[in-house]
Order: sequence, then structure tokens, then C-alpha cells
Amino acid sequence: MVFILVKIENICLGKCPLILAPMEDITDSSFRLICKDMGVDLLFTEFISSEGLIRDAVKSKRKLDFSEKERPIGIQIFGHDIDSMKLAAITATQSKPDLIDINWGCPVRKVASKGAGAGMLKDINKMVKITSEVVQSIDLPVTVKTRLGWDENNKNIVEIAERLQDVGIKAISIHGRTKSQMYRGEADWTLIGKVKNNQRMKIPVFGNGDITEPQHAFEMKNKYNVDGIMIGRGSIGNPWIFKEIKHYFETGRFLAKPELLEKVKVCRNHLENSIEIKGERTAIFEIRKHYSSYFRAIPNFKQFRIKLMTLTDLEEIENLLTEIGNSCR
Ligand SMILES: Cc1cc2nc3c(=O)[nH]c(=O)nc-3n(C[C@H](O)[C@H](O)[C@H](O)COP(=O)(O)O)c2cc1C
Repeated sequence: MVFILVKIENICLGKCPLILAPMEDITDSSFRLICKDMGVDLLFTEFISSEGLIRDAVKSKRKLDFSEKERPIGIQIFGHDIDSMKLAAITATQSKPDLIDINWGCPVRKVASKGAGAGMLKDINKMVKITSEVVQSIDLPVTVKTRLGWDENNKNIVEIAERLQDVGIKAISIHGRTKSQMYRGEADWTLIGKVKNNQRMKIPVFGNGDITEPQHAFEMKNKYNVDGIMIGRGSIGNPWIFKEIKHYFETGRFLAKPELLEKVKVCRNHLENSIEIKGERTAIFEIRKHYSSYFRAIPNFKQFRIKLMTLTDLEEIENLLTEIGNSCR
């Protein structure tokens, strides 16, 4: 397998970089820091509404925050209006990320029905126009994350990728599903491979969709020659996946799966990061959606789950996490 050094302009990402996929309400700074410790090579913020950003919406502004440790990091924006997208990109640039990413892939109704996210897969001319304007209005590299096309009859990612490259994007991440598929079916990497192996493409192409195991990542890299692999759901409750893939790529062997005590330790770090960034109250509430993912494999987790989902006192949560750690000894 060929491993070449991957760069987005002058941002060096190493050989076959692993990328944490942006995930709203999951990949906040507290989780990104956990993944960074596990060897991830490139991070993105959760997507940020261009309209929210230019109107100073608190939720949008907060999503701009990241720490120096997270570099290289891209701020991802979404929207459907040229002026708002340009202004949002300029605003996001003030937070000094390493790059700006445009989301042309979100299929969720409240986004796509307005023509933002994957909604723009229905109007490629406008997608190219907005992307071009954003590229021209900032000095940072601009990347795009998108899907294979609108639906089964319109899988035009090869053409889309060429056109976006032509207006100056510096890398593209492709989720191997159409807008119509939402998250159904299996991700199809064959078209991602076609984009990568298109002679006209010069920018890095990152493949995304359904990677949950090291050997699957290896297979996709081997088969389709993508420049990097982006992982979303496979990292939720399992940030070790990045370490495992790196180890497998380097040695051809599987890294031992994390023990329960290790899971407790990382979950605790995740909570601590979150407390530092968002304060105790919010952190205790937000970490709840991660508990089941961290501990799903424990046979007796059900008995702890209800308590974890209701406790509000940090000391009690800490004690319960210790109890969980000791429960399988
Ligand atoms: C809960 C959730 C939130 C997501 N939020 C975003 C987002 O903010 N921006 C984005 O580009 N994609 C978002 N996605 C899509 C993922 O980045 C990724 O493309 C998709 O999950 C497929 O990759 P996977 O199979 O590795 O999860 C989200 C996905 C999930 C499950």
C-alpha cells in the first residue's frame, strides 16, 4: 500500500491521516481533545449555522471555541446564502482555525430543506458559486464535506469534486451515501475511489462512512487509495479506534481492546474536559449521551445506566464511575 505525506496547503497531516468527522452535539471540544490524545490527525468543529454566526447567536459563537492542543482544526459552516456564507467564513476566520470547511452534506430536514448542507446537491451551480466566493473572501484554506449526490439517479460527486477543486478548495471529504439515503444502507466507497483516482484531482480526498474497525479502514485505504479516512459514529464511546487503526496500519496487528478501567478513565477525562470548558452543570448533563456508548459492552450496565442518567452531583457521579470500573474485576 502506498502511504504518501498528505498536506492541505502547508498543513502537514502525516501519512494516511485519520480525521474525526464533525458531529453536532458530539464532537465538541471536550470530545475532540479525547480523540486528539488517541492520535487523530485533523479535527473539525460541529457544523455552525452561517446565519447564526453572523447574527451573534450564542450557540453558534460558542461552537467556534477550540484549544491550541486541537490543531490542526477546521471550523465547519453551513448555509445557503452567498453573502451570509462569506460573512460567516470571515467571522470564523477571526477565531484563527487552520482551515474553514463548508458542509454540503447534511441531509437533516431543517438544514437541507432550506438548500443548505446536502440540500445544495440539487443546485451544483450555486454550490460552486458559494464555495468560490468563500474561497476568495478569506486567506485560510477552504475544504468541503459532502455526499455522493442527491439520490440514486444523481450520483455526480466526480463532477462536483472537479468543479469544487477548480474554484480553489484544498481538500474534500466524501461520505459514501446520497442525500436521499440519509443514514440508511451501506456507505458505498466505490465512487469515493473514482474521485480519488480521477487524473484531474490534485487535492487530498478523504473517505467517510461506516468505518468501525481497523481492518475495514485498511481495506478501504487499500482498495480506493484515499488520502485519509474520516470517522464519525465509530468513534462515539470508542475514541480508541484512532489508536487501533494507526497500530494496525503500522504493524498489521490488532491492538488489545481497552479494559473497563481504561474506559472509565477516558469517560472521566471527557467529563473533566467538559467541566473545564462548559461548567459543571452543563457538562454533567451533556456527558449523559456518551455513557451508554462508553459502557455498552458491560453485561451489567443496565443497573448503572439509570443512576448515571439521573445523578446531578459530581461526587456521586465520580463514585459511581469508580464502582463501574470495579464491577467487572
Ligand atoms: C449525531 C451526528 C451529527 C452529525 N453532525 C454533522 C455535522 O455537524 N457536520 C457534518 O459535516 N456531518 C455531520 N454528521 C455526519 C458525519 O460527519 C459523518 O459524515 C456520518 O456520520 C458518516 O460517517 P460515519 O459512518 O463514520 O459516522 C453527523 C452525524 C451524526 C451521526
